[in-house]
Amino acid sequence: MSREPILIFENIVKKFGAFRALDGVSGTLAPGEILGLVGPNGSGKTTLINVIAGLYYPDSGGVRSQEQDITHWPMHKRARMGINRTFQIPKPFKSLSVEENIALAYHYGRKPAMSPQQALDFVGLAPVKNQLALQLNSSQQKLLDLARALAAGPRILLIDELAAGLSHQELQVVADHLQALAQQDIALIVVEHHLGFVNQLTERVMVMNAGKEIFQGSLSRAAQDPTVSAVYLGTGS
Ligand SMILES: Nc1ncnc2c1ncn2[C@@H]1O[C@H](COP(=O)(O)OP(=O)(O)O)[C@@H](O)[C@H]1O
Ligand SMILES: [Mg+2]
Repeated sequence: MSREPILIFENIVKKFGAFRALDGVSGTLAPGEILGLVGPNGSGKTTLINVIAGLYYPDSGGVRSQEQDITHWPMHKRARMGINRTFQIPKPFKSLSVEENIALAYHYGRKPAMSPQQALDFVGLAPVKNQLALQLNSSQQKLLDLARALAAGPRILLIDELAAGLSHQELQVVADHLQALAQQDIALIVVEHHLGFVNQLTERVMVMNAGKEIFQGSLSRAAQDPTVSAVYLGTGS
């Protein structure tokens, strides 16, 4: 864990009106590391992904990667430096085919990257590559979203609730794949409700509640932490 971080976010505050969706969140991520980001609904997980990916700029605090302050960089510029993400609700170009969606991500992404064909094979969507994205079921759309992110040549991959809607068998495959990506030195933040899935991927988690980090460390220690249990028992999620 002594490697130079590829991502540093510090004291991130993101407000919607007067409401603080993120209220001073900090963390680091090294190449090849997987950080599990967990917490009840509304705790700010997706907002943190959005701030790192550049969909939102924070009201205060900073994001750094590869020795650059990228806090106010537009999304496409971050994608080109290798920051890519999947969406909690996938947003493919619905009237393009699966293959065209991936080819587009490849075109705009960082090189070197997985070729569109490799990305198709990686997520197992090669058999449906000529279908329109709108014809896919919800788990296939999640896998397409992952394939697009991969074809964009990520160094940092932000995964927002990929497991929701996938079958147990699909989950196993995806967990193995994400681990293989980490072994290729890609740094991952994995937002997930499914703690069994997180446990398979990583021991290192950050637990959020109400826009703040309430715990950072191993998942097994998080499970014994009184603040974490209070939040989970209190919200019932
Ligand atoms: N674009 C937005 N406008 C207003 N409020 C938002 C917006 N995005 C998120 N929020 C609010 O910020 C809080 C954190 O949301 P989110 O980051 O999506 O949580 P999580 O992903 O942990 O469920 C929620 O209360 C949510 O309603
Ligand atoms: Mg979310």
